[in-house]
Amino acid sequence: MPQKLCIGVAGLGTVGSGLVEMLIKNHDDILRRTGREIVIKTAAVHDLSKKRELPAGVALTSDVMSLADDPDIQIVVELMGGTKAARHLVMRAIENGKSVVTANKALLAEHGREIFALAQKKNVAIGYEASVAGAIPIIQTLKNSLAGNHITSVMGILNGTSNYILSEMNQHGFDFPTALREAQELGLAEADPSLDIDGQDAAHKLTLLIRLAWGRNYPFSRLAVEGIRGLNPLDIKFAREFGCRIKLIGQAREVDGKIEAGVFPALMHHTLLLARVNGAYNAVRVEGNAVGSLFLHGLGAGRRPTASAVLGDLLALARRSAENGSGDNTGFVDPLPDAEILPSEEAVSPWYVRATVRDTPGVLRDIAAVFTEEDISFAQILQKAKENDRVPLIFMTHETTGRAIHTAVRRLEQSGTLLVPATCFRILGSCGDEAEEI
Ligand SMILES: NC(=O)c1ccc[n+]([C@@H]2O[C@H](COP(=O)([O-])OP(=O)(O)OC[C@H]3O[C@@H](n4cnc5c(N)ncnc54)[C@H](OP(=O)(O)O)[C@@H]3O)[C@@H](O)[C@H]2O)c1
Repeated sequence: MPQKLCIGVAGLGTVGSGLVEMLIKNHDDILRRTGREIVIKTAAVHDLSKKRELPAGVALTSDVMSLADDPDIQIVVELMGGTKAARHLVMRAIENGKSVVTANKALLAEHGREIFALAQKKNVAIGYEASVAGAIPIIQTLKNSLAGNHITSVMGILNGTSNYILSEMNQHGFDFPTALREAQELGLAEADPSLDIDGQDAAHKLTLLIRLAWGRNYPFSRLAVEGIRGLNPLDIKFAREFGCRIKLIGQAREVDGKIEAGVFPALMHHTLLLARVNGAYNAVRVEGNAVGSLFLHGLGAGRRPTASAVLGDLLALARRSAENGSGDNTGFVDPLPDAEILPSEEAVSPWYVRATVRDTPGVLRDIAAVFTEEDISFAQILQKAKENDRVPLIFMTHETTGRAIHTAVRRLEQSGTLLVPATCFRILGSCGDEAEEI
């Protein structure tokens, strides 16, 4: 008789029901890979009256904390989402010596410090592969496979909903509300899409990636976050004229021993791998001093892809002889120091600036004067056809800081040169004729 591994599952929604389905479907493979029978003893849900597809013998409860207190349950799988109840459950489970598997990036970004510290103290494992980029095995990649590297940068498309919206705007010329509505109709965006389109979801994931890449706590609240809400289709169109796509990027880099990180829409040349990630897909690009550049691509969400990552963690725990026993959750020796932060405004890159001005003689000279005073030089300038005396001007700058760009733009707004606020995006990689990759 194979040894049993008894688990409690909190949440039977998209991911939880996918986990149950794959545990049944892949039962024989799981047994062959681990030599153990993974048995769900209890599942916790909010609404006990909903119909559920569960194997015989699974108890259903609405008392989620009972999973943490049940001495028979060896691993608690948290798939509820949210940070309040989930935090109580996870902390209590760890306190009681249980390992935890979770897909909850918000929880680990906002409360990771205390959760990992307690797990270290109690010598239990936290599996969180599903929390970043769904099916893509980026957590194990950073924690184990690339552990021999000094990581210099991690960047990625970490939110499938935003990427789907941007892809639709780019490929079909949709405006933002139309692309969002389509994503909602397809079930790719929530009724309240704020977490996705305002960049918070990607920021939660980036916080976890920074911890794994550098062994530093980067406070989530200090991350610079900008989303794609209301993105103007004009910018998609103009970016294309420079051979670029606009992508919502989560990026963290090491610059002179400090970490510069943020989530923001950026222009990328269309030949770059990240620029070519379309639809609801996610991708992560990691650079390490031994491995060079590594690119991972796959589905970042969904019932089965996310369950795949949850199962990977569960099987890794099942393979260990005991159910618990590893404080090695961040991939670094705890306690982790705080990250030294390079403010995003100080980061250097080329910029795209779209300004709308009145079509009068000398306006370009006035703008150029302000940019020059802020030490910004232009790589390219594009003037579009005027509409009702208004003319859009596109500036592609050489490398400069966000601070310089925002100061110049603010000055031009205050002087009345700009008719509407300028749109400014960073450019990542080359937006010239030369392709950097592939
Ligand atoms: N969906 C994805 O593709 C995906 C991808 C990666 C990561 N994640 C993460 O996975 C987690 C779960 O996401 P999901 O999409 O599966 O969520 P979901 O579909 O909304 O399901 C949530 C489940 O948790 C239950 N629940 C919520 N609060 C509870 C409480 N206080 N007590 C007991 N049960 C409670 C709900 O019960 P009822 O069924 O009774 O409502 C439901 O079964 C989240 O952290 C999410 O960020 C999701």
